[in-house]
Amino acid sequence: MNQRRGVFISFEGIEGTGKTTQAGLLKEFLERKGYTVTLTKEPGGTVISDRIREILLSAEYKEMDPITELLLYFASRRQHIKELIQPALDKGRIVITDRFADSTVAYQGYARGIDLNLINYLSRSVAGGLMPDLTILLDMDVEAGLRRNKGKKFDRLELEAVEFHKRVREGYRILAGEEPERIRLIDSSKGISAVHAEAAEIAAGFLDARFQAG
Ligand code: TMP
Repeated sequence: MNQRRGVFISFEGIEGTGKTTQAGLLKEFLERKGYTVTLTKEPGGTVISDRIREILLSAEYKEMDPITELLLYFASRRQHIKELIQPALDKGRIVITDRFADSTVAYQGYARGIDLNLINYLSRSVAGGLMPDLTILLDMDVEAGLRRNKGKKFDRLELEAVEFHKRVREGYRILAGEEPERIRLIDSSKGISAVHAEAAEIAAGFLDARFQAG
């Protein structure tokens, strides 16, 4: 599952940081530059993964066990990689995904407290070790992010306590510190167009360097 010719970009961040909007804007920007882009999201991206998403996010299933949750995210991811992401990368496309493996480390690892060794093992074995070439991490204050989503019906994860979301944010920031080359942090409190300008500059710089290098 590892061989690829395209470029894999993920957006990450806590709730309310505007990942979906920014992923869409980056797709349009890269298409204007002549790239062929596939936009997708996790959990989801295929019919089966979308069904798993419904189970994962339904606010009804409060009894869901943390390891069950973890395995469902990986089940959704494996199908997503096999059916959509890897074939698109093999065709030389740019794939932009709204969330990927770093979400699992931040939410199930740092926030739920599941052993990171188990998560990393599953990433290697079940997800074939596929990791984004570039990750744009949208970072902002947790309460402000949750307030942005106010009025919307909260899903099972959004219903978690503020403390949970603070651990998610902290987890992301640790990951960004560990992998500063891959994970580029943007302050997403500063408005849609300013965030987009920064994300576009980062992605364009990355792609120019990648394609010059061959
Ligand atoms: P979203 O698509 O609206 O961001 O919802 C996805 C939710 O699932 C969000 O709360 C983050 C959570 N999530 C995890 O907990 N682990 C994961 O691996 C992924 C991809 C998402």
